[in-house]
Amino acid sequence: MQYALLKLAEALKAPHRANKVKHRLLKGKSLQITLTPFSSPREILKMGGIHRLLPKGEGVLEIGCGNGEFLVQLMAEGKTALGLEISNRCLRKAAFRLREAGFAETSRYLVKSDGVAFLRWLVPQGFLKEIYLLFPDPWDGSPQRRIVTKGFLELVRERLVVGGRMFMATDHTEYARQMERAILNTEGIEPVDWEGPLGTKYHRKWLAQGRPTHRFSFVVKRHLDELSEQNPLLDLEVESPAIGTPELPMVLSLEHEGHLIIERSYQADEGRLFKTVLNPPWGMAQKQFLLLKKDKLILLPTWHEIVIPSLLKAVSLFASGIPSV
Ligand SMILES: C[S@@+](CC[C@H](N)C(=O)[O-])C[C@H]1O[C@@H](n2cnc3c(N)ncnc32)[C@H](O)[C@@H]1O
Repeated sequence: MQYALLKLAEALKAPHRANKVKHRLLKGKSLQITLTPFSSPREILKMGGIHRLLPKGEGVLEIGCGNGEFLVQLMAEGKTALGLEISNRCLRKAAFRLREAGFAETSRYLVKSDGVAFLRWLVPQGFLKEIYLLFPDPWDGSPQRRIVTKGFLELVRERLVVGGRMFMATDHTEYARQMERAILNTEGIEPVDWEGPLGTKYHRKWLAQGRPTHRFSFVVKRHLDELSEQNPLLDLEVESPAIGTPELPMVLSLEHEGHLIIERSYQADEGRLFKTVLNPPWGMAQKQFLLLKKDKLILLPTWHEIVIPSLLKAVSLFASGIPSV
C-alpha cells in the first residue's frame, strides 16, 4: 500500500512528494532498499557536494544521458561518470541498464537535474575532466531553448579543468552550425577532432534515417573566470531593459533555501525577468536568471520550472511590490 502511494506520488510527477513519502516510509525502519534509483542536486549538496561522487580533475559528466547506454560505455572504460537527465522515464531506463552492467548503486551515477543548473550550482570551477552532450533536443520551432549557446560554452569552459574536453554531437544541421559558431565565438577554448564510438539510441535512430552526424569537441586552454553577464539568449527575450532596476540589490530570505539577491529586474516578453544570485545554505552562490510567468517561476535559459515553494513565494511577493518575506 505504501509502495503504491510512492508510485502514485512519482506518477504525479511530484518527486519532492515522493521523497516525503519515502522518508516517512523509512523513518524508524531499517529498510535497506533505495526506492529512487537516482539522486537530486539537493541530495548531492547534503552529502557534501559533487566531489563525494567525482574525483576533482578526473570526473566525467554526461548531460542528457537518455537511456544510459553511453554512460555505461564511459564507465566500462574505467571513467568515473555521472549522468544527468530531466526525464524520470529515461532515468529509470538508465538505472536498469547500469544495474545490468554491474553498477548496482545507481543513485551514485544518475542525477535528476537540468544540465545547465547542475553545472552552475553544483560544479566548482576547474573541476571536470570531460563533458558529453550527445544529440541534445534541437527544439525545432523554439530554437531559443537550445542548450548550446556561447554563454553555455563559457560555463562549460569554467567548470572543466584546463586541458579538459567537451564533446557534442547532433544530427541537426542548423543546430550544428549554432554549435560551431558558439565554439568559434568562445574565448579560451580550442576545437579538436573527435572520433570514436558513439553508441546511443538517438545516434542509431538518426543513422537509420540517413541523417548526418555532426561532431564537435574542444579543449580548454584557459579559464577566463568571467561568465558572460549578458547572455545573448536573454537579450532576445528582454523587451524593454531595466524598467524596475532596484537602486540597491534586494535581499530576500528563503525558508530553508538561504538568500536570494535580486540584482535587476526587467519586463520581458513573457513576464518579469530577474537577474539573481542564490546563496544556498550549502554549496556555492549561484547567478541565475529567473522568469516569473503568470504564477510560474522558470529558470533561464533552460526553461525548467522551479518548484521550490519559498523561492516562488519570495519572487512573486517581490514582483507584486512587497519587498520581502
Ligand atoms: C534526444 S535525447 C538524446 C539522449 C541520448 N543522449 C542519446 O543520444 O540517445 C535528449 C535527452 O536530453 C534530455 N534533456 C533535455 N534537456 C536537458 C537538460 N537541460 N538537462 C539534462 N537533460 C536534458 C532529454 O530528457 C532527453 O533524454
